[in-house]
Amino acid sequence: MTGIKKNMLEALRKHEPDHVPFWFMRQAGRYLPEYRELREKAGSFLSLVYNPDFAAEVTLQPIRRFGMDGAILFSDILVVPQALGQRLEFVEGEGPKLEPIRDGAGAAKLGFKNFENTLSPVYETVKKVRAGLIGEGFGSTTMIGFAGAPWTVACYMVEGGSSRDFHEIKMMAFREPDVLEAVVDVLVEATAAYLIQQIRAGAEVIQIFDSWAGVLDSHQFRKWVCRPTRKIVDLVRDAYPHVPIIGFPRASGVNYITYLQDTGVDALSLDTQIDPKWAARILQSSVPVQGNLDPVYLLAGGDALVMAVEQVVRDFSGGPFVFNLGHGIHKDTPVEHVELMVKTIREMGK
Ligand code: CP3
Repeated sequence: MTGIKKNMLEALRKHEPDHVPFWFMRQAGRYLPEYRELREKAGSFLSLVYNPDFAAEVTLQPIRRFGMDGAILFSDILVVPQALGQRLEFVEGEGPKLEPIRDGAGAAKLGFKNFENTLSPVYETVKKVRAGLIGEGFGSTTMIGFAGAPWTVACYMVEGGSSRDFHEIKMMAFREPDVLEAVVDVLVEATAAYLIQQIRAGAEVIQIFDSWAGVLDSHQFRKWVCRPTRKIVDLVRDAYPHVPIIGFPRASGVNYITYLQDTGVDALSLDTQIDPKWAARILQSSVPVQGNLDPVYLLAGGDALVMAVEQVVRDFSGGPFVFNLGHGIHKDTPVEHVELMVKTIREMGK
């Protein structure tokens, strides 16, 4: 025991933190010049991800500048399908490209043969970050591990990349649910194993990103978002009962209630569209919440940013809360705007 108080963990355990804890989705990334420099040196995004020295360094970069309460592992949700044998590349300026799975034969090709081997550098990164945080005097910063939820990861696996309307995966869900079920079942097992290994390596909190949870109707939402997530929560909790799990069913509106009830996550990350008064009354009254500043305020800067940050802190001051954004930081965000946001949170949240 170091005796150092970890404010993010305190908030997630519904204890009183000393100040409003904060971290930001995509806090490590292209808006930071030191990230762009290392990314250049690594040659590609994936070689950055699979190099533990580089990935640990990138994880620590924003902490050195801003002293966040949470350090999120630098990796990506799509390393899981890659470790299951699906071909993945990140095309400059276009995003991820995968060899799409469209039928049972495609689903049957997924397997665990190279799974642990592929992902072991990620666990090495977690270890290095934990050691780095302590060594560099950030002992009060909590290490956050993460994975994509099966539904969102399957969206990329079936569509073959980003999508506008998700009709390939929805058609599969409606016409050939058994094929999608096969993919999702593999993802449940893989994701739980991946998260458990992250915790074993030193992750203290887990976030499950379900970025595309909001594209399904309520029945399909229960089936493809809640049910697989519940299985992962149960498996992780069996292994590590005291590690808080944050769920992020982005853009799912009132289905946040269903998600909370059905998955049993410990905390909810709120997207920008959620009404804060509703969320405080309906969600924060039972679990800690995290969120939900519109990341575009960070592009805007100035008084608009300061007032919006103050509003978010006020909106969620009545219960357990971790300040965050409603989605990831935009790559064109000026670093000074992030500084202004952090200063404002610190002044407000004492
Ligand atoms: O938050 C962090 O700082 C930790 C690292 C992290 C990344 N991706 C790094 C990344 C995390 C938690 C993610 C999660 C992720 N990845 C999600 C869920 C959250 C969300 O944004 O909705 C999703 C959907 C992905 C898939 C993904 N990765 C896409 C669609 C893209 C391309 C879009 C883009 O922003 O360029 C990525 C690439 C990616 N992942 C980058 C980073 C820093 C940019 C890569 C680069 O350096 O070129």
